[in-house]
Amino acid sequence: MHAQTSGYVPKTIAAAQLENSLDSLIMPENSRRAKGFRSGLVRLILDTLPSLALPADDFLADSTWTSQDWIGRRDTARRIIKFACSAIRAGKVFRLIDEAGGTANNILILFEEIVKLDGPEREMLLKEGNLTVYVRDISSVQLEAGRQKIKALEKQLGISCNVSFIEESITLKRFEPDPDMFTAAITSYTPGALPPSLIKEMGTVFSTYDMVLTRDFSEGAFMRDAFLRQTGVFGRAYIRILHGKTFPGDSLWRKFLTSTYSLGRGLYNQYRVWPGRGHEAGWGLEVVDGKHTGYVEAPNISLLAVELEKHGHQIINRFNVKAFAVIPVGRIPQSNNLEVKYAPGWTEQIILSLNPASENFGLIEAVTIPPAKPEACTVNRSKRL
Ligand SMILES: C[S@@+](CC[C@H](N)C(=O)[O-])C[C@H]1O[C@@H](n2cnc3c(N)ncnc32)[C@H](O)[C@@H]1O
Repeated sequence: MHAQTSGYVPKTIAAAQLENSLDSLIMPENSRRAKGFRSGLVRLILDTLPSLALPADDFLADSTWTSQDWIGRRDTARRIIKFACSAIRAGKVFRLIDEAGGTANNILILFEEIVKLDGPEREMLLKEGNLTVYVRDISSVQLEAGRQKIKALEKQLGISCNVSFIEESITLKRFEPDPDMFTAAITSYTPGALPPSLIKEMGTVFSTYDMVLTRDFSEGAFMRDAFLRQTGVFGRAYIRILHGKTFPGDSLWRKFLTSTYSLGRGLYNQYRVWPGRGHEAGWGLEVVDGKHTGYVEAPNISLLAVELEKHGHQIINRFNVKAFAVIPVGRIPQSNNLEVKYAPGWTEQIILSLNPASENFGLIEAVTIPPAKPEACTVNRSKRL
């Protein structure tokens, strides 16, 4: 189920998700309906989903598809490169800690992105002493796999990555602030993997860093207004499909269909059966009178943001809607594009946490992060759906 929902998407969607500009792919209102659109009930059902116009070449047997969580990690890497360049230009060492970095996926992508850069930035980031990287994780097995991956990458790219691997819990304080350094932490798909009881300690440790960039599986209905403001037509489709909820102005037909599907019921189970003790992504499941009942609650990533806020950090919160499926429905006349239906499947939440008490705060402010809008992160009461 997780493999399905985190899923693979064509390269055009990958690029658009990375730039947070999926809206630009939506078919204009006045476009003519694609030829070959199936008829009858299937057509009416698909018609309730947002349409994208994507190159037909993306749907050939040999076209490139990308995993959506890897798109997220690449987004982290690109943002970190901006911060690193800004810090190094100001004469600081950029110290990057991938917290619960597992098999070093984030760092692998970071160096892939660095070698793609042209000119002085590439040189600056690869120059010895400018960038020091740590991967910290509790699992020796994950770290060993990470070591092997980084070694292979260094050989393949002919570079030295200067990555140290530390086997310990991320709730332990290890990295003291250093005036010669800019200290940044990243962590991907991690807060939900930890018991909620550890989030407070994680917040205390992370709050000592200059900035923290976290992303994780989450749940849009938990902060519904911010979610809908940020995700537009995709967010509305998500609320309809995942939660079976309608919006004022929805047609009777759409209301009828919406009330008959609610993928979310599957999500309660999917996050609970995650290996280990489940993933705290905002989907709760409890047994009431012998029946399994679902509810939404604060995802761990939001709880972490609240902890960091308590320590004085400024929080920038961003939601993205990710695809459950992309369904080609036919060729758009006089173009090489297909009309593709976007069925939403999961929410990704990104938190950028900035430390105003840090003497590096001016450097952080200098780096703009266009798609992220400042939104307060609140802990709502659990809501039964
Ligand atoms: C879902 S994986 C994510 C790994 C990595 N961030 C990525 O994006 O591929 C969660 C990781 O958290 C690690 N982990 C769980 N509890 C931890 C703790 N208390 N301290 C450090 N790492 C922990 C696990 O060993 C695992 O590698």
